[in-house]
Order: sequence, then structure tokens, then C-alpha cells
Amino acid sequence: MLKKLEKLSALIGNTPLIELKNNDTNLFAKLEYNNFSGSSKDRAAYSIIYNAIKSGHINEDTTIIASSSGNLAIAVASICKILKLKFIPVIDPNINKAYESLLNLMSYKVVKVTERDNTGGYLLTRIATVNKLHAVTKNSFVADQYGDPNNYKGYYGLTEEVINSFDHLDYIFIAVSSSGGITGISKSMKEKRPETKIIAVDVEGSVIFSDVQVKRYISGIGASQVPPIIENAIIDDVIIISQLDIIKGCFELLDEQAIFAGASSGALYKAAKNYCKKHSSVLKSSSLMIFPDKGHTYLDTIYDKEWGEQLAAKLQTSSSIK
Ligand SMILES: Cc1ncc(COP(=O)(O)O)c(C=O)c1O
Repeated sequence: MLKKLEKLSALIGNTPLIELKNNDTNLFAKLEYNNFSGSSKDRAAYSIIYNAIKSGHINEDTTIIASSSGNLAIAVASICKILKLKFIPVIDPNINKAYESLLNLMSYKVVKVTERDNTGGYLLTRIATVNKLHAVTKNSFVADQYGDPNNYKGYYGLTEEVINSFDHLDYIFIAVSSSGGITGISKSMKEKRPETKIIAVDVEGSVIFSDVQVKRYISGIGASQVPPIIENAIIDDVIIISQLDIIKGCFELLDEQAIFAGASSGALYKAAKNYCKKHSSVLKSSSLMIFPDKGHTYLDTIYDKEWGEQLAAKLQTSSSIK
């Protein structure tokens, strides 16, 4: 199995780096959606599974279980297909329709939770379901993106790529969910380039950096529990972005840069532009954003004008109730 995985590693990482048009800053984006299964989660899934095989926690008969309503599940499903392992993703109603269909095609079984947890999200319900499944499934392994250090270690390679591409960087903007990306990149970046500031971008309603309660409707970014692995991250600043600004950011990215990307990339674009304008000096700063995935799976949400209007109405109602 390790040999098969090592072959796959040629298709993960070394993602394209592009410069965007911007008057206030030298703005670059690392296109992580060019990874094998379409997102930066390939790095996390690869690292978690590779190390679990190496340490004997996964063998040919193991069933893999994971709590994910998106890219991590797709990444794990792809690797399990290659290794001929059974995979059970635990998903929730926020999942994109396309992902649900794809997971149904690629997985041994899909389990969908429907009850919201006490934070208004689904993460805690998903984790409880994963634990139950793990207990009743013989020879099962939980690909735990929130707690397994191999998640963030999977991003050390991304830092190497960044260091090899830039002599100097002022800011790296990273969207946060399980925190694998920001933990891995910040930990390894600070060892070699401590002057580069790491800026976390999170969505309103996520509990990672804030306790303001807002119902979340956008997938990929944010979490309803603080991921244990984030204690290893070194973060210089945090930007909390509203869900409506994420939508605006996605459309601006499309209109201004012809990049059709997912919600987190829109969040990063909006946040980075504002931040760099605010912190601009005589010398233009250089900033990098890590774009995790493409826009196709957000066509019926973020990129659907009617969905956006309904979201605005829902958020308006809930904020006027408070
Ligand atoms: C859509 C999306 N947003 C954000 C992230 C960052 O997530 P994490 O903090 O789990 O590394 C990812 C990672 O792949 C992602 O796919």
C-alpha cells in the first residue's frame, strides 16, 4: 500500500503559484485546487493515511471512517479507492450536492447526520457519530483531521514550496477549518521565516477564534469546536469575515481575476485586499493566499444569486431577533 501511495505523491503538491492584479499589494495565490482530488485536503489525507499505514493502524482490511462534509472526505475517498480500502464518510446537510453524489459513488457507505449541535453547526454531531461507528466497526481507523498531528504535518511540504518560490513574504492568508493548513504552514514557516506574518481567516459563527453566535450556511471554512491541533499554530492576526462578504469575495475574484474558486478563496481574497489596503505603506507588501478548492461545487450556493438573497434575508432576521 505504501508503494501505491508513494506513486500518488507525484500528483499532490507543487501546485501552481500565480500573481494577481492589485494596486495596494503584490498579491499571489497558491492554487491548491490543482491537487489530485481537487483541494488542499489531499495533503492532509495523504499524510494521515500514509502515517497510519506505516505505524500499523491501517492494513488491507481496515475500514476508514471520517467526519467531513467536503474536501477531506473526497480526498480520503480517492486514496481509499486507490488502496481498495472501505471508506465511510460522515456528512451533514451543509454538504454540496455534487460532493454528496460523488461520495455516494466512491464510498463503501455514506452516513448523513441531520441534528444540529449546541453551537448551531453539525460538527459535534458528526464526531459523536464517527465515534459510535468506530466502536461497532471491527478493524476501523478514524481519519481525524481535528486531532491527528499528521493533518498539519502534511502541509510542511507546502511551506517548502513557498520558501522556494519567494525570497520574502510579508503575509500569508490562510482560511481555517480543521486548522491543519494554518497549523502546518505557520509552524514550519516560523522556523525558517519568522518575519512572515500568518493571518487566519475565519467565518462569522465559527467558534475557533470568536464566541459570537451566528448560524453558518457556508461549507469548507470555520468549525463548531476549537480543533485540538491548532495549539501548535503560530498565528499573528485573525480576520473574521461575514458570510455575505464571502459571497462578495467570490464574485470579485471571478470578475477581477477570472478565478472561479470556492468559498474560502473568496473569503481570503476579500480579507487580504482589505487588510493590505489598511496596512499599506510606501513599500508595497507581498502577500500570499492559499486557495483550497474550485467553485463548481458552490454553483448552487455561493454562485446562485437567489441563494445569496435568501441567505441575506435569513441573516437579517436572525440578527434582528437577538
Ligand atoms: C474549502 C476549504 N476551506 C478551508 C480549508 C482549510 O482547512 P483546514 O483548516 O482544515 O486545513 C480547506 C482545506 O482544504 C478547504 O478545502
